[in-house]
Formats: sequence, structure tokens, C-alpha cells
Amino acid sequence: MAGGIWLLVLVVGTFGFVLGLILNHFLPLLLRLGPVPRGSFGWPILGETLPFLKPHPSNSLGGFLKDHCSRYGKVFKSHLFLSPTVVSCDEELNYFILQNEGKLFECSYPKPIHGILGKASMLVAVGDTHKRLRTVALSLITISKSKPGFLNDIETTAIRILHSWKDKSQVIFCQEARKFTFNVIVKQVLGLTPDEPQTSRILEDFLTFMRGLISLPLYIPGTPYARAVQARSRISSTVKAIIEERNRNSGNSTRSDFLEILVLVNNLTEEEKVSFVLDSLLGGYETTSLLLAMVVHFLALSPPAFQQLKVEHQKIKSMKQNGENLNWEDYRRMEFTQNVINEALRYGNIVKFVHRKALKDVKFKDYLIPAGWKVLPVFSAVHLDPTLHANAFQFHPWRWESQDQMRKNFTPFGGGSRCCPGSELAKVEIAFFLHHLVLSFRWRSRDDDLPIAYPYVEFQRGMVLFLDHCSI
Ligand code: HEM
Repeated sequence: MAGGIWLLVLVVGTFGFVLGLILNHFLPLLLRLGPVPRGSFGWPILGETLPFLKPHPSNSLGGFLKDHCSRYGKVFKSHLFLSPTVVSCDEELNYFILQNEGKLFECSYPKPIHGILGKASMLVAVGDTHKRLRTVALSLITISKSKPGFLNDIETTAIRILHSWKDKSQVIFCQEARKFTFNVIVKQVLGLTPDEPQTSRILEDFLTFMRGLISLPLYIPGTPYARAVQARSRISSTVKAIIEERNRNSGNSTRSDFLEILVLVNNLTEEEKVSFVLDSLLGGYETTSLLLAMVVHFLALSPPAFQQLKVEHQKIKSMKQNGENLNWEDYRRMEFTQNVINEALRYGNIVKFVHRKALKDVKFKDYLIPAGWKVLPVFSAVHLDPTLHANAFQFHPWRWESQDQMRKNFTPFGGGSRCCPGSELAKVEIAFFLHHLVLSFRWRSRDDDLPIAYPYVEFQRGMVLFLDHCSI
């Protein structure tokens, strides 16, 4: 009997061991036998990076994606940014990638970007560090949104810029939009106004810093990359000096900027606080100014949308006393404005894709995504997919009257645990600027001045606007 039990134990034990062996060793191998998506690795080392980065209008797919999707389907393999890569133009897979951040996939920006942003940056941090930085960021935004100065500062900045156009018949709009969003974010984050000398110093260093982000990562004195690293350290010193000054005067200030709250936070190091300021400037400046430029560009080409927008803002204006500031209630009344903003986000594709890597072998539908591979969810391909958005290649804000903007097929701000914390700030900025713009001006732009994805998006000629001043 006892021998029988031992035999049973032996059989079960052996079975368990073999099962364990299969599960631990052979199953991944079997899984590996599942096909990686079809595609091509292209040239040695560079792979297909250059054709992938080839500039194209941002409201189009571009030759590379068009060609590869029709040849291999919406998910295909390639070799990009020095790594084997799975490119996804599939809404389900994109959503799955974003929702599994930290579990199956992880944010993975190219190394040189880390060199400039610094390792305390939320944009590149992962795991617990990212969680801690993000919690602070979200609470900071909630606190500052509740302060009365938050909306007034945005509106005052918009009025100031538009006032400077009073004797002009044309402006280079991208410059004006950058001025607007930089002045807003510097006020929100550091409490600085445009006329303070520190503001122009930070702007100058910040522009150098941004040029470095998109340059060849060669640390040789004089190259844009090396200048960017130096500019970052100068901004860092300026911000540290402001923090020290605030620490000395803490308790007797009426300021309502991020920094005022940040100096009181005690679970961030000084380096993390500086990175936080840089992240906000970086995240909140170029993207938002580009969105504003897109909205203005698409409105120039769509007189019915312009007209409806103007009527909406005239109505809001008529409900206010002369000179009375806009508030959250007014913002919520700007329904068509929201549709216009959403449509510019969908059609204009400010962020074409984000960088991820697979942490383990991942099976999704019929594909295998091998551990360690780069994974690029391409948002623009989903935004321009005619099976998901009717007349996808038309600017049609009215679609948002019935289309749910929380769906998987619309992710201009990313998703999951890295979803953009500044999305609402960006939208309020655009809405308030538009309020004053449509009440004071009509405009035209040049047909050939288009938003081009390099893949970071830029208007080739800075978008010249021809202005007609109008009284309300
Ligand atoms: C139209 C304007 C904007 C667009 C299209 C945009 C887009 C995005 C996208 C797609 C991501 C996700 C990146 C990823 O998953 O790897 C992101 C993250 C981020 N954005 Fe924005 N953004 C905008 C405005 C802003 C503003 C105004 C701020 C700051 C005040 C901001 C700060 C950030 C930060 C700090 C992150 C990193 C979040 C994290 O990793 O947890 N963004 N943004």
C-alpha cells in the first residue's frame, strides 16, 4: 500500500515536474512558434527608420504606413530606431498596449532623450518612480485649477496677444501661438509674467533645449545636442534659484502657481522638482501651440464651422457684463468649440505615435510580440481609419455631436496610466483664445501652408494669417 502511495507520489511528482518544465521552458517556445506579425526588417542597422520618418501632411497616413498596411495589414513588424519593432495601426491593439503599461509594455523613449530630459523626468520614468511623480502632478493640476487666477491668467494672456495685432493685417500665426502657450505655462508653473527678465532667459534656453531633443545625439561641443544638455542645466539652475527664494519666503505669498505648491511637497527631491517644471514646459508648450494652429488652420478652410463657432461665442459674450472674465461655466457652454478642438486633434494628429517596448512575450489575437521588441502604437492611423470614422479625411467637427470621444478610436492624449495630465489645460487655453479670436477677426491662410509630420508636426511656413478686423 505504502509502495503504491510512493508510486503515486512518484507518478504525480514526475508529471508535475514535466508539466512545470513544459510551462516554464517549452510553452514560451511553443508560443514563440506563434507568428510575429508579417513585415520587413529593411536595411541592416537602420532598418526602415528613414522611410518611417519621411515627412508627410499630418492629416494623411504617409507613404510608409499606407504601403505597409496594405501589404501586411494593420499590425506589422519592422526595424525602427535600432530595434526590431511591432508597428500597430490597430485600435484594439493600441488600446491593449496603453492599458497594460508597466505590466506587459513599458514606455521606452530613445536613450538620447533620457540624456536631455534627465532621469527624474516623468516623461521617461517608469514603475514606482513614475507613479510617485504622476500622483504629485495630478494633485498639483487639481489644486491649481481650483484657484481663481487659473482661468483669468489664460484669458488675460490671450487678450494681450490679440491686442498686439490691432494694427496688423497679417501675422505669422505659429509664432503668436507659441508666445501665447509659453506665456500661459510659464505663468501657471513658475508664476512669471512675459515682461520679467527670467521669462525671456528661460524661453531662450528652453528653445535650445527643444532643438536638442530632435537632433543627432552627439555630445560634441557646439552641436545642438550638447547645447541642449547645457541649456537644461542653465534652466535647472534658474529654477533651483526660484525654488530657494520661494523656500525663504514660504508662508507669506499669495501666488497660485505650481511651484508654490511644489515647494511644500516633501516627497520629491530638488532634482525631481526641477524635472517636473521642465516636463510641464515641454509637455505644455509646443503641443498646445500646435493644436491652436491646427484649429485656426482648419477653420480657415471651413467657413460653416467658423460661422457656427462665432455664433456660439457671440451668445456667450452676450450673457456677460462688459469686461467680465470667462469662467468654468462659460467653458462648459462652449460645446461646438469642444467639437472643433476634438476634430482638430483627430484630423491634425499632433502626436502621431508613442514609444513602448514589450516586457515579456505577448500574444495578442494571432500575433506574437516578442519580449524586448519595440512597440509603436500609431494613433494617427486609427484617427484616419475610414472604417472607424466616416469621411475620415475631412475636417468635420459635427461628427462629435454623436460620436463618443472616450472611445478606443480617439487617443490624441494617449491613454492608460500615462494619459496626458495636461489635456484639460490645453483645451481651456484653446477655447479661451478662440473666444476672443472669432469675436475680433476673420482670417485666411495660404493653401500650401500645411501641417507636416516630420514626424513632430510643424507648419512649413509658420502659417501666415491674413487678417480682417471685425467688430462684433
Ligand atoms: C494639445 C496638447 C497636448 C497633447 C496633444 C498632448 C499629448 C500627450 C500624449 C499623447 C501623452 C502620452 C505620452 C506617452 O504615452 O508616452 C502625453 C503625456 C504627457 N503630457 Fe501631454 N499633451 C498636450 C498638452 C499637455 C500639457 C498642456 C501639459 C502640461 C501642463 C502636458 C504634460 C504632459 C506630461 C507631463 C505627460 C507625461 C505623462 C506620464 O508619462 O504619465 N501635456 N501628452
